[in-house]
Amino acid sequence: MLEALKRPGSDLFDTLRAREFARLDDQNLAYLDYAAAGLYGASQARRYAEQLQEGIFGNPHSQHGPSQASERALVQARSAALDFFDADPAIYEVCFTANTSAAIKLVGESYPFSPRRGLVLSADNHNSVNGVREYARSSGAAVAVLPLDEDLRLFEPQAGLRKVARNGRGLLAFPAQSNFSGVRHPLDLVQAAQALGFDVLLDAAGTGAAAYVSLRDNPADFLAFSFYKLFGLPTGVGALIAKRTALAKLRRPWFAGGTVDYVTVEHGRHRLRSGPESFEDGTPNFLAIAALEGGFAFLNQVPQPDLQARLATLTEAFLSRVQTLSHRDGAPLVEIYGPKTMEARGGVVAFNVLDPRGGALPCDLVEQRAHAQGIAVRGGCFCNPGSAERAFGFGRYDVEKSLDDLGDGFTIKAFQRSLGPQSVVGAVRLSLGLPTNANDLDRAIGLVNSFAA
Ligand SMILES: Cc1ncc(COP(=O)(O)O)c(C=O)c1O
Repeated sequence: MLEALKRPGSDLFDTLRAREFARLDDQNLAYLDYAAAGLYGASQARRYAEQLQEGIFGNPHSQHGPSQASERALVQARSAALDFFDADPAIYEVCFTANTSAAIKLVGESYPFSPRRGLVLSADNHNSVNGVREYARSSGAAVAVLPLDEDLRLFEPQAGLRKVARNGRGLLAFPAQSNFSGVRHPLDLVQAAQALGFDVLLDAAGTGAAAYVSLRDNPADFLAFSFYKLFGLPTGVGALIAKRTALAKLRRPWFAGGTVDYVTVEHGRHRLRSGPESFEDGTPNFLAIAALEGGFAFLNQVPQPDLQARLATLTEAFLSRVQTLSHRDGAPLVEIYGPKTMEARGGVVAFNVLDPRGGALPCDLVEQRAHAQGIAVRGGCFCNPGSAERAFGFGRYDVEKSLDDLGDGFTIKAFQRSLGPQSVVGAVRLSLGLPTNANDLDRAIGLVNSFAA
């Protein structure tokens, strides 16, 4: 595996690991949960601390100098976010939100769903996208789901959309990269859906620091993401990047401070502001937003092609190595959910460790041993039930019956028991980021191998 990393550019990553992420090695931690949260660099944190110590930031809704300092930070951050997703500022706006979920909710609560304007979801979606179906349903809109194939890729999505389109268009929502399997869904689906008359909401929270979504090439109407997935600091800020024309289709269900040109109490009237501010309820998180310029500067010191090549090399090395592991009798030690090669996938790998008879060990057992060894991975279904249902092969009738039987007594353990002793209800997820090195992955391989019998 180390040989694969002896390539130009790998020195930069070693240097950054030593200089910016020394705390990982100081604490003997193999952090492999970048799909949950990226990590900030030490110099990024210092720069932010200095900014706070020296700067005076006021509420951007006021007009004085400290407010103008905050306003400048907002303007810079909007521009950096547009750059990262290669979005034309003449077409797109950036609305700051608390996180990806809040960005998606802005669309869900104000999209004009109706019996003729429905929702299409990929089966692979985070629950923060799945939840939009509740808004659609409450407007009497149909909800359709595009299914997955056995590699957890979308199965003939364009044909599926054409079928749905016969009953009317609406909103299509899918992730650029799955937070479950690492699958990169085909971005040409954006324009194919738009050609059929759909609006497209792209969830980009799973792409992390890899800037491979270009809104010039794949001009989604809405794109949602969280900044901490990119560079760790700050938390509490995400954004909805949206075409101005798409924002104009939304009907906000309320107004709040900061979103209005005027409100009259006596006449019961209000007028929303034009532009992104009409979607930014109340005071924006201006101190956190002030950290974004430094976050992008930190990330931009690594050329994107190098970062993407590095993550692909490491992921490929892990994938090929982990699949050779076996028990003493030759029985395989892991089952990978999703693509087993690097074709159209990112640095997220979901798997289970198998016993010699091929049954999956409970993911919490593997997770506990990982944590005891200082390896930070995630276990469960990662808020992505559609991918989990396909990966674990749940029977539709069995699930329905179990949920009915369990009622208020639902727990994951009780659910698994009711599906039967061989059922699988969770996996282990390992996800790579800018600081990841070969040693982190060696430790993950060692962890899996420690279950060999
Ligand atoms: C693909 C995807 N979408 C949405 C979200 C929700 O992001 P947040 O919790 O920042 O709102 C996540 C979080 O892990 C995610 O991975």
